[in-house]
Amino acid sequence: MFRQLGILALAATATFAQDVDNEGADVHAEFWKKPWASSKGLQHLVKEKSLLDCAQTLEDFAYATEGRNRLAGSKGHNDTVDFLYKELSKLNYYNVTLQPWSALIQESGDANFTLDGEKQSTSIFSYSPSGNATSPLVIVDNLGCEASDYPAELSGKIALISRGECEFGAKSVSAGLAGAVGAVIYNNVPGDLNGTLGVPSPDRPYVPTVGLSQEAGAAVIAKIQGGAEVIGELSTYSVIKETFTNNVLATTKGGDQDNILAVGAHSDSVAEGPGINDDGSGICGLLEVAKDLARFKTKNAVRFGWWSGEEEGLLGSTYYVATLSEPEAAKIKAYLNFDMIASPNYYYAIYDGDGSTFNLTGPPGSAELEHFFEDFYTKKGLNFTATEFDGRSDYGPFLDVGIASGGTFTGAEGIKTEEEAAQFGGEAGVPYDVNYHQAGDNVTNLALDAFEVNTKGIAAAVGTYSISFEGLNLNTTTVARRGAPAARLAKRWNKQLLKRNFDLQTARRRYADKKCGSKSHDYHLYK
Ligand SMILES: *[C@@H]1O[C@H](CO)[C@@H](O)[C@H](O)[C@H]1NC(C)=O
Ligand SMILES: *[C@@H]1O[C@H](CO)[C@@H](O)[C@H](O)[C@H]1NC(C)=O
Ligand SMILES: *[C@@H]1O[C@H](CO)[C@@H](O)[C@H](O)[C@H]1NC(C)=O
Ligand SMILES: *[C@@H]1O[C@H](CO)[C@@H](O)[C@H](O)[C@H]1NC(C)=O
Ligand SMILES: *[C@@H]1O[C@H](CO)[C@@H](O)[C@H](O)[C@H]1NC(C)=O
Ligand SMILES: *[C@@H]1O[C@H](CO)[C@@H](O)[C@H](O)[C@H]1NC(C)=O
Ligand SMILES: *[C@@H]1O[C@H](CO)[C@@H](O)[C@H](O)[C@H]1NC(C)=O
Ligand SMILES: *[C@@H]1O[C@H](CO)[C@@H](O)[C@H](O)[C@H]1NC(C)=O
Ligand SMILES: *[C@@H]1O[C@H](CO)[C@@H](O)[C@H](O)[C@H]1NC(C)=O
Repeated sequence: MFRQLGILALAATATFAQDVDNEGADVHAEFWKKPWASSKGLQHLVKEKSLLDCAQTLEDFAYATEGRNRLAGSKGHNDTVDFLYKELSKLNYYNVTLQPWSALIQESGDANFTLDGEKQSTSIFSYSPSGNATSPLVIVDNLGCEASDYPAELSGKIALISRGECEFGAKSVSAGLAGAVGAVIYNNVPGDLNGTLGVPSPDRPYVPTVGLSQEAGAAVIAKIQGGAEVIGELSTYSVIKETFTNNVLATTKGGDQDNILAVGAHSDSVAEGPGINDDGSGICGLLEVAKDLARFKTKNAVRFGWWSGEEEGLLGSTYYVATLSEPEAAKIKAYLNFDMIASPNYYYAIYDGDGSTFNLTGPPGSAELEHFFEDFYTKKGLNFTATEFDGRSDYGPFLDVGIASGGTFTGAEGIKTEEEAAQFGGEAGVPYDVNYHQAGDNVTNLALDAFEVNTKGIAAAVGTYSISFEGLNLNTTTVARRGAPAARLAKRWNKQLLKRNFDLQTARRRYADKKCGSKSHDYHLYK
């Protein structure tokens, strides 16, 4: 696991400050003249108009590109990063930095496979190389986890291997070492098989590898064992690229730098659309509150983070947390995440930090963060509900290192229930966001009322916790707890990459697919 990290060519962990002409005493004097931040003071400054303008700016960035998106590493995304950097730097209130990172990402993949000329239902394993092979199939013994399972006659042929026990990647490598020109891995449970071979390593080359259902696998084995020769024709196509991108970080220059409230949203979109609710709404909600906060002084420090590569598997936030030193991680007392806060058929959902609804609790302090937002909606006379705290957005890495986390969410591709329609209005039986990960996720389709309410929620939380963390029952057994061992974090970083490269479509359905949230399911992506 750790070894594979080497070939990811992670950019230097150092971040760089690109400020500041007016550093030091003057800035501090200015700071102390300002009024104290407060929930009320900050909420009061939130304007729907500026949220809309910001969203329009992001849409313009996307629509000015051929892809009409803000995919991590693309022009539309880079423009988003530049925009945030400039807007925040202008305030002369934050230490604004870009945190560069890169990752090997499979951008597209496709496969065809026929048996004796008959087309099979198949998919390419992520990170499989491109290739074409036409040859007889040779059955690999046992589960193909030992070199001795690969017979000599495999040379120049296609290996037929059962799923099970060892990783898909190990099977593809072993097949190649035995001289096979391709590998077909068939399922050991009913249904089609797809997954990832894992990030490739130069000393572990893969052969073109595709999946086959258990049924189709059993049928071809029966034929071969009956003495027939079965010809497979396999073709795979994949584009694997190193993507370079930046997280944007803005930390208040004032406030106690040892007690930090971190607030995050993701800056990237999927390829299919401009990503204005997902997560332009979070981008703009944070930016609005960051601008408004500059009118106040705070007791704690506040760090806003715009993470890149969320859509590829929480890459930017994982990189950020994985490269934080233990003492730096210990300074972050709480993290708040805002990913999709203006869904057209919205509900007001709060991350279930106390586990009362979904039986998945966050680190100490997370329950109180959930209750904070419950109070917020209650005071506004609005209904609220809970959403599973399953780590499917950028708060995941923070949970992993024991940082209290919370946030709000207005729904993705999940379907609104009758009960929720009664609570929140909108339409039952329809997704919260019908445009989720699609071209229609644009400014026209934002729910501006939810956008404003939830941005006020960010304002309320920032106004409150920038002054004091009182009321959060944080685990005070600090440093050791917060700094997870480097190896564990590196493993997580690696796992996220694998997860991304699972199935380009289904991995994106992270919110509703409960199975996808479980650790065992993740494991099945590569084994
Ligand atoms: C976006 O920025 C990254 C990182 O600076 C750079 O490597 C990449 O080439 C840029 N992409 C485009 C399309 O300009
Ligand atoms: C600004 O932030 C960067 C990283 O986030 C840090 O390395 C640097 O020391 C900070 N600069 C100041 C003046 O606080
Ligand atoms: C596979 O065959 C197709 C069609 O002939 C060709 O376009 C493609 O380049 C081949 N792929 C490789 C990796 O040789
Ligand atoms: C991958 O496998 C899963 C689970 O068997 C299935 O739901 C999904 O549709 C498959 N994806 C592809 C692209 O075949
Ligand atoms: C698979 O077949 C489809 C339809 O014929 C074709 O468009 C696609 O390019 C093929 N892909 C590969 C990798 O051969
Ligand atoms: C909640 O989760 C715990 C730990 O995973 C489990 O032991 C318990 O049975 C679950 N409770 C319910 C009501 O599902
Ligand atoms: C809250 O939900 C109830 C139904 O549970 C509904 O009667 C009420 O109108 C809702 N309140 C608001 C402000 O939508
Ligand atoms: C926004 O998406 C809708 C589809 O919901 C589409 O009709 C409209 O043209 C899009 N707006 C722009 C400016 O492209
Ligand atoms: C607090 O952190 C300590 C040290 O890591 C840990 O042993 C303990 O279980 C934590 N307490 C809670 C309630 O999570």
